[in-house]
Amino acid sequence: LTAAEQAAFDAVVADDGRIEPRDAMPEGYRRTLVRQIAQHAHSEIIGMQPEGNWITRAPSLRRKAILYAKVQDEAGHGLYLYSAAETLGADRADLLDALHAGKQKYSTIFNYPTLTWADTMAIGWLVDGAAIMNQVPLSRCSYGPYARAMTRVCKEESFHQRQGFEGMLTLVRGTEAQRRMAQDALDRFWWPSLMMFGPPDDASPNSAQSMAWGIKRFSNDELRQKFVDVTAPQADFLGLRVPDPELRWNDERGHYDFGTPDWDEFMRVVKGDGPCNRQRLEARRRAHDEGAWVREAAAAHAARRSAVARA
Ligand code: ACO
Repeated sequence: LTAAEQAAFDAVVADDGRIEPRDAMPEGYRRTLVRQIAQHAHSEIIGMQPEGNWITRAPSLRRKAILYAKVQDEAGHGLYLYSAAETLGADRADLLDALHAGKQKYSTIFNYPTLTWADTMAIGWLVDGAAIMNQVPLSRCSYGPYARAMTRVCKEESFHQRQGFEGMLTLVRGTEAQRRMAQDALDRFWWPSLMMFGPPDDASPNSAQSMAWGIKRFSNDELRQKFVDVTAPQADFLGLRVPDPELRWNDERGHYDFGTPDWDEFMRVVKGDGPCNRQRLEARRRAHDEGAWVREAAAAHAARRSAVARA
């Protein structure tokens, strides 16, 4: 970057403006965005698996139609995000290769199993709730294509969160067995949901620089706190108990106090040793291999169209 280009970039960021694909940008900024957007895209498409697992067993036609729509939305989010990464010069095929080789990460949350129907509802309520908390600020991030992709993603995530909460409400108002199923799902998904925000601030190597570049607007711990503040009263409303003995409202701070997630477990899952890591990657690789003919057909079709256009 020349000094003038660096100064122009710094001015846009300082002014809360948007960096666009053709603008000059520091190589570290580009690399950080490709890393984060790719991880985000991978999370969306791997995230189709835990809930996709329940489409054939949804308890009613209405629930099935909603779940179908939601899982398809996640696929769409993956596509917007891979496209956003491509505006930075990344190649989608390379990003997928890196995912399949275990070289690029995806969110730890999707390495936990969905054992019951209530798990799919808890995912909507908690996981999509956490995703919104994290992604609404990203719609104001300094990189234009990523910020714009978040607008529609967040609207859809908000539908996902509401359907999950409404599904939990239906369960807690049902039989005692249904209420217990909802509590069990909350017990298993609470802590992994808090881990979605990433490591604590003092152990987050990328945060300071990403905040300075206007990619992150809030730190990992700030977003985690916001999530707990919004979600704890929702659990009360459902009549469910959050599995954290330290959770209580702190009048002085104006926030909930809460316990510490098991960061050793988080690191194990990040490194590939969670309950479903192997299963998720294997299913993803298989889906990719089985989709090879679609990619080939699309490429052949595009080549023919451009040949026709040239003729
Ligand atoms: N799961 C897997 N990896 C994680 C997680 C997580 N829950 N949290 C942090 N990490 C990784 C980071 O990607 C980073 O990886 P690196 O080794 O490539 O540098 C490393 O752990 C250290 O963390 P941070 O320094 O805090 O990383 P970062 O500044 O990127 O913050 C965060 C992490 C908050 C997840 C950020 O990348 C982000 O906002 N991403 C976009 C949102 C997203 O990916 N959501 C996916 C789940 S939501 C959904 O799909 C429905």
